[in-house]
Amino acid sequence: MCGIFGCILKEGAASPLIHESLKKLEYRGYDSVGIVTLNNGELQLKKDQGKIDDVHRLVNLDDLEGKIGIGHTRWATHGAPLKINSHPHLDCEGKIAVVHNGIIENYSELKIELENNGHTFVSKTDTEVIPHLIEYTLFKNPQYSLADAVFEAIKRLEGSYALAVISILEPDKIICARNESPLVLGVNENGYYLASDIPAFLPITNQAIIVNDGEFVIISSKGCEIKRISDSAIMKRTPKIIDWTPEMAVKKGYPHFMIKEIIEQPSTLRNTLRIQDHYLDLISTFLDRAKDVFLVACGTSYHACLAASYMFSKLAFLPTYPVYASEFTEQHGKSVSIDSTILAVSQSGETADTLSSVTCAQQRAATILGLTNVIGSTLTRVSRVYIGQQSGPEIGVAATKTFTSELSVLAQLALRLSKKRGKISQDEMDNLSEKLEEIPNIVEQIIRTQAEKVKQIAKKYSYAKTFFFLGRGISSATAYEGSLKLMEIAYIPSIAFPAGESKHGPISLIEPGFPVLFICPKDGSHKTLISNIMEMKARGASIISIIEEEDDAIKKISDDYVEIPKGIPEILSPIPFVVPLQLLAYYMALEKGLNPDTPRNLAKCVTVK
Ligand code: G6P
Repeated sequence: MCGIFGCILKEGAASPLIHESLKKLEYRGYDSVGIVTLNNGELQLKKDQGKIDDVHRLVNLDDLEGKIGIGHTRWATHGAPLKINSHPHLDCEGKIAVVHNGIIENYSELKIELENNGHTFVSKTDTEVIPHLIEYTLFKNPQYSLADAVFEAIKRLEGSYALAVISILEPDKIICARNESPLVLGVNENGYYLASDIPAFLPITNQAIIVNDGEFVIISSKGCEIKRISDSAIMKRTPKIIDWTPEMAVKKGYPHFMIKEIIEQPSTLRNTLRIQDHYLDLISTFLDRAKDVFLVACGTSYHACLAASYMFSKLAFLPTYPVYASEFTEQHGKSVSIDSTILAVSQSGETADTLSSVTCAQQRAATILGLTNVIGSTLTRVSRVYIGQQSGPEIGVAATKTFTSELSVLAQLALRLSKKRGKISQDEMDNLSEKLEEIPNIVEQIIRTQAEKVKQIAKKYSYAKTFFFLGRGISSATAYEGSLKLMEIAYIPSIAFPAGESKHGPISLIEPGFPVLFICPKDGSHKTLISNIMEMKARGASIISIIEEEDDAIKKISDDYVEIPKGIPEILSPIPFVVPLQLLAYYMALEKGLNPDTPRNLAKCVTVK
């Protein structure tokens, strides 16, 4: 997730405005910043790694000349957060500049093709193929306008993009296009603006034109023309008046970051499916070779590791130890050796306990692998190989999209390892891969159809002083995560257990009306889970269940239920099944008048042990 901004002004300089607007997009990424403007047939460019304020102090982003320009604030995915990888990126001759938010999945193939045709690349980014592809298209078709060349070039891009292009070849235009990454236009009497998000231009104008997926835009000082990429049809669109306050705008109109981040999970999950094969291969090779594998993390990331231990075991027959990072040194420190592999999972890549486990393992010569959201974080620097979860900055303290993104990456790793080891049949592998591709749409459907129901459940049980979350097998990890969410933001003491274990103690707490939430995918333990539900019901518990659609057996014995589409393989079930639990915690917090974005005593990133 990066932020892009551009403008064509009638009066005034573009660069201070781009600088100011990029600051409003810094929540989308802050690894590096860059601006390029057009003046007297010349591109003027400044970029560097670091936060916008720091880079501005060093290079002064405001003194670029010209009324047209584009800018970028980066969240690194391909290529470290270095100056060389910062946007804007240029073609060989420095005539075409591009900023891009998204991931070009086929960039390696395009890069090879372009290099074979004499193009020289300077960065490690996927984005750099775009200016070269436009340059190459113009070289092959000298009769093309800049817009024609961009139009032709983007048809070859696979993946997600919101991009903006300027060139000295036609210095009065900005060409943009969108596929799966956000792009909006703003308009007022002084010009046209493009941005990843409305807040970027809201102080300048409240008139916005939405660009849809698969659309292409030519902006000049006279107006903007929107075309559908598939058939070149011209799309007529009038500006809409946006009546959000600036604070609402940063949250895209949602009242809290937490709900925004829950709702954006379908798109972040789509992003996780774009991880380069190369990284999955490398990490699974290390896992394959290890004598013992420790999955080390804190909080929500630990719950992802717990679920992953079932994935690795069931798909790749690889036993792993999921360990709380704060316990790692005490519990396993002495048994770690040169043959051990530590897969450290951390959204921030900076959690002190996780890093200290890594240090302990390094001292004993173990191999360190990392899964994180923040490329350039300490974890990426200390890992032999790391992989990015690619879910963009998470602002809400309670991790939501982190859990589902990490799980999606870990599931892909388990599948890759399974393939390497030949542990499951090709049919099963194909089925799981297909289902993983469907998960983003399934999550979208759950949010669309079940959120209101969850809200009502939160209202009904807002009296509860305590909650139980129970599940069997991989669903026990889902239960732990649901319980953590409720505790973190609604301050409701809640207890999670593997359902089978609940009769060895926790059941003594049950009295009439005590809410017990069961996670019930239709897997091998479904029948036994029904017995666990009956045990609780017999003692007067109120049963809330997260079930597959048409699971009449559990519906009949539940006081309330939320339905998940049918046919999700057990191993992938935590991804969709956790979504109602995130919503439950959110609505419970609202019921209690709490702000879910700022739970007391908690921090997004815990850098103390
Ligand atoms: C803190 C946050 C949690 C997070 C945990 C681990 O406790 O409040 O939401 O799950 O740290 O963070 P990490 O960045 O290592 O995944």
